[in-house]
Amino acid sequence: MAASIHFPVMAGEVIEWLQPKPGQILVDGTMGGGGHARLLAERVGPEGQVLGLDRDPAAIMAFSEANDSRIEPIHANYADLDQVLATRQIPAVDGLLLDLGLSSDQLADPTRGFSFESSGSLDQRFDPTTGEPAWRLLERMDERALADLIFQYGEERFSRRIARRIVQTRRQQPIRTAAQLSALVRSCVPRSRGHRIDPATRTFQALRIAVNNELQTLQEALGKLPELLRPGGRWAIISFHSLEDRLVKRAFREHPLLDNLTRKPIRPSESEAAANPRSRSAKLRVAQRIASA
Ligand SMILES: C[S@@+](CC[C@H](N)C(=O)[O-])C[C@H]1O[C@@H](n2cnc3c(N)ncnc32)[C@H](O)[C@@H]1O
Repeated sequence: MAASIHFPVMAGEVIEWLQPKPGQILVDGTMGGGGHARLLAERVGPEGQVLGLDRDPAAIMAFSEANDSRIEPIHANYADLDQVLATRQIPAVDGLLLDLGLSSDQLADPTRGFSFESSGSLDQRFDPTTGEPAWRLLERMDERALADLIFQYGEERFSRRIARRIVQTRRQQPIRTAAQLSALVRSCVPRSRGHRIDPATRTFQALRIAVNNELQTLQEALGKLPELLRPGGRWAIISFHSLEDRLVKRAFREHPLLDNLTRKPIRPSESEAAANPRSRSAKLRVAQRIASA
């Protein structure tokens, strides 16, 4: 497996806000290529510990092959962090990072179905060992449910038109690849003037969110993970679209165990946004566990 091509977003800001210190126990709940995790491991030093979770077995495998003994790679959903810590007899951690969404490694792999032009199966699961691939949803959902899904998770104005076209098309031939789906969406959604984003972007986002149950997972974690932070411990979350950011903002303001440290989200610097287009939509929010409820 090749080395990760993912470039960690807002790395300096994450370190500045999480304030990792020697000897601490930290969790990277979305380890991906391990860029952030390595930076955290450098800061906690040999007495510290970094647990790196990812739902994607390929990410865990690639990281394990890199043989970085400072980080323990763990195939798990970040929402199950309570179980991960319980099996290691760790009652609470000093800091927690979530860098949501998908990695450049996943996007670049044509067999995963994340990128518009890939001719492999339209799968889109972070963990291909469980759940349903995206092509199955396109095959089995009725027109109304598809339209609702694309509207709700993609905030796509043309959701009804796209759902109708999906249902018409699948009567003639199954929709099995990302390339087929992106061509279908482009054929029925006008490219908005002055906008550089591909018309298929919102539909792909919607399917990925649905396939991976992303919002429910985040909501569950926002409710229960604060208990796993030691008092004074910090939680940093980088989100990439408004549906996620809205959930994080609300939980960081309202959770009884959390103090919200960022009234407004931290955004990437102009130079980072110019150098790494993926960072442009990133929003970082940080909260701190209070001493007691
Ligand atoms: C944006 S990437 C993280 C990149 C990483 N920070 C780095 O520097 O390389 C997001 C990763 O989170 C993983 N992921 C998404 N949802 C997850 C979940 N619920 N639990 C664990 N990992 C998840 C994805 O498989 C992906 O590898």
